[in-house]
Amino acid sequence: MPAPSDQPLISAKGLTRIYPLGSGEVVGVADIDLAVPSGHLVVLKGNSGSGKSTLLGLIGGLDQPTRGELVVAGHPLQKASPSELIRYRREVVGMVFQSFNLLPTLSVMENVCVPALMAGKPFEETRRRALKWLEWLDLVQRLNHYPSQLSGGEMQRTAVVRALINEPAIILADEPTGNLDSRNGEAVMRLLADLNRQFGRTVIIATHSSLADRWATLYLTLKDGKITRSGKSEI
Ligand SMILES: Nc1ncnc2c1ncn2[C@@H]1O[C@H](COP(=O)(O)OP(=O)(O)OP(=O)(O)O)[C@@H](O)[C@H]1O
Ligand SMILES: [Mg+2]
Repeated sequence: MPAPSDQPLISAKGLTRIYPLGSGEVVGVADIDLAVPSGHLVVLKGNSGSGKSTLLGLIGGLDQPTRGELVVAGHPLQKASPSELIRYRREVVGMVFQSFNLLPTLSVMENVCVPALMAGKPFEETRRRALKWLEWLDLVQRLNHYPSQLSGGEMQRTAVVRALINEPAIILADEPTGNLDSRNGEAVMRLLADLNRQFGRTVIIATHSSLADRWATLYLTLKDGKITRSGKSEI
């Protein structure tokens, strides 16, 4: 297992995201200070509405802070331009969502290759890399299937391969087992843990479930947009 290093891979100072809503505003996250060294498997906990998805969206470059700093793998995201954010999302992070977000008209192989082809990677090399991960995830019998022909667990494993295709250092998973039964949920969490332990990826999982607890190396708990607890154990 790669040892977590001391240099923060993800660092935030006063990180705040306020959503304007009508004439008022809603706090997504507020004044978060954070330093996550490389190599961790972070479990992000907190009640519904506490800011987990907001924080993952900021780290994933899907959204930008209202104020504060967020530096991920040397990229100051608070001042990134739209084109820098696109490149960042392709190269630095891979994201997995509760609802899988696969493209229904593309096969498993096509779905997983899209982010690499959009990044301009050569087709043959992309296909080879996709096959390596699809084999690892036991999906080679499903290459030409469409999402509607897959089980929930297969759809989420496909989504994980898509998140991995550009070999990002960081995998972000937002409630990845929310639509899976407990057996498939367990398998997906184990796979995220393997990516952390065997392949050295830093993994952040926002989840209400306790399925990731046995592999967590760091816990963060959010409440009302603030980190109320951070440490090696949940309590
Ligand atoms: N696009 C948006 N516009 C307005 N308010 C939003 C938006 N997205 C999130 N919020 C609000 O920001 C707060 C944090 O939401 P967030 O989705 O980050 O919570 P969460 O911890 O992921 O919740 P859950 O466990 O239900 O997924 C909530 O009050 C939510 O209503
Ligand atoms: Mg959420």
